[in-house]
Amino acid sequence: MRKRDFVSLVALIVIALLIWRLSIDSPNMREKAKRIQDIFGIPSMEKTKTAAQKPTAPCSLSRSCPLDHFAFHITSGAADVVGPKICVEGKVIMSSVLNNVGPGLNMALVNGQNGTVEKVDCLNYKKLEDILAYLKAIKPGTIVLVASFDDVTKKMTDEMKEIFVGLGSASIMSLQYRDSWVFAGASGIGQKSPFEKRAANEEETNVYQGWPESVDVGGCFPRKF
Ligand SMILES: *[C@@H]1O[C@H](CO)[C@@H](O)[C@H](O)[C@H]1NC(C)=O
Repeated sequence: MRKRDFVSLVALIVIALLIWRLSIDSPNMREKAKRIQDIFGIPSMEKTKTAAQKPTAPCSLSRSCPLDHFAFHITSGAADVVGPKICVEGKVIMSSVLNNVGPGLNMALVNGQNGTVEKVDCLNYKKLEDILAYLKAIKPGTIVLVASFDDVTKKMTDEMKEIFVGLGSASIMSLQYRDSWVFAGASGIGQKSPFEKRAANEEETNVYQGWPESVDVGGCFPRKF
């Protein structure tokens, strides 16, 4: 046997012994693989992945948002029983638990430059003229997050609908009694928002007696739009 072959053989035996040793004192296959990788300095897939991403995405999103975006997640109410929920940048800002939601339109206004939550309101507690004044006062550059609860059409005038169209809503004009609706738009958006969902109140498809399923929408809202 030549010297080089002998060295290779010894190396092989050492590796085989190492693997065997690892296999008897660690029952978990993943753990074993990781230890072998560690011994030979192979970076594991897991490590590379966690280094490139934040450990957990905010607001139950499947991935983190790019730096110049805000993470959000909106869930409509379910029937007139479970309240809606609005989350921004990992923080729930409206929910039944926070006791700041109610039937009708639930709305959060977020500063489009720095993500500061400026207002959270359940609009249907206000008078019609006050709701309209509230909507008219939304400053350009404001991100508007909306969740329905029970019924949003009760205090919705055509003038209000026009304002929602201006914020980027495509469904507001056809929204009917007790439809579920979630929407994220912005004042001055100049186009239809990709963040909108609606479930129609239809007897044949309703999940709850008298109400459709709850809907939710989430994603990354750009700082500049
Ligand atoms: C975000 O901007 C608004 C308006 O310019 C300001 O009032 C608020 O303090 C800012 N928030 C942060 C966290 O910088």
